[in-house]
Amino acid sequence: MTTEELIGTENAIDIAEHLKTPPTKALQKLQPDRSLLYHQYTREPEGQLVATADVLPDDFGSDSVDIEIPPYAFKPDQWSRAFLRGLAKLDVSGKKCLEIGVGTGINVIYLLAKSPDSIAISDKEGRCVPLACRNIRRHCRESQNLAKVLPYGGSLDLASWLPFAEDGNFDIIYGCLPQVILPKDKQIYEGDALAHYYERERYASDLGIYGLALNDILLQQVRPHLKPGGSVVLNLGGRPGQKTLEELFRKNGLRPSILHQEIIAQHAETSLSSLATLEVASGRQFEFFADQEAKQPLNAEQAETRRQNRLPVFHRIYVYQGQIS
Ligand SMILES: C[S@@+](CC[C@H](N)C(=O)[O-])C[C@H]1O[C@@H](n2cnc3c(N)ncnc32)[C@H](O)[C@@H]1O
Repeated sequence: MTTEELIGTENAIDIAEHLKTPPTKALQKLQPDRSLLYHQYTREPEGQLVATADVLPDDFGSDSVDIEIPPYAFKPDQWSRAFLRGLAKLDVSGKKCLEIGVGTGINVIYLLAKSPDSIAISDKEGRCVPLACRNIRRHCRESQNLAKVLPYGGSLDLASWLPFAEDGNFDIIYGCLPQVILPKDKQIYEGDALAHYYERERYASDLGIYGLALNDILLQQVRPHLKPGGSVVLNLGGRPGQKTLEELFRKNGLRPSILHQEIIAQHAETSLSSLATLEVASGRQFEFFADQEAKQPLNAEQAETRRQNRLPVFHRIYVYQGQIS
């Protein structure tokens, strides 16, 4: 498959199949596809327009933020709320940014108001970059801001395309990536499964047992793509515990610090059965709580039983920044 065929395609399944093979030289030519931004936004919305003002930080300064959320995209929720509050602490002015796993584009809509130099966007779900472009176009009133968005179209698995991104290009690479292994009874392209799960056999990492394989694979690759002083910002569930999360950064030569943390409700639709199995295999307990004050700890099995019984389960969420050490 050629670069031309990869770019702009919306057949995520075909492309994902293709990316199972080692990346070809064609990927070295990956260029941002401006046509996504300037043409595809005119298409009819594929999903409902949903108000997300409650998710955006107060300094966003807009009272109407409706974004299109089709069934295949991650619906901004309390994870997004926490992530946006972490991103709010960053100084992105004049910085070259890259969002991995852009989803609906809500983070880009927020950060564009903070005068970045540019924000490149990509996603493994091939329909998300055009979707994000439509959402950004809907909210971005200034054409000079639109020109700052650099869409990389197609289904771009971070494990396959990042090695071919230009070296030393970014000040900030950020993402909120799936941290739960795909249960055996689910398909990765079912609904928004790709936004919540990853396939364990595709991503080799010694932190895979904590659900951190995708984040680890990203961190293993980012250093050459960061400018001196650059950093990576990740939205991480606190379920594996702070010690393990910091190990994730240190093993990849990055100095971790917490930008933001809060306690959130566990996503009621995300199965924790794979975490419960991993807990037994690793002998290290995952961190959940039965209450919002984090006074009643639970292991993954107890948390999954409560979730199945429709009882609330909570966990911490951290927005970590990793700086080149
Ligand atoms: C939890 S959603 C977050 C979406 C958006 N960043 C947000 O904060 O609302 C995770 C996103 O990562 C994408 N994703 C999942 N696996 C990926 C991979 N291997 N490479 C790149 N993106 C991936 C999903 O398609 C999804 O859009």
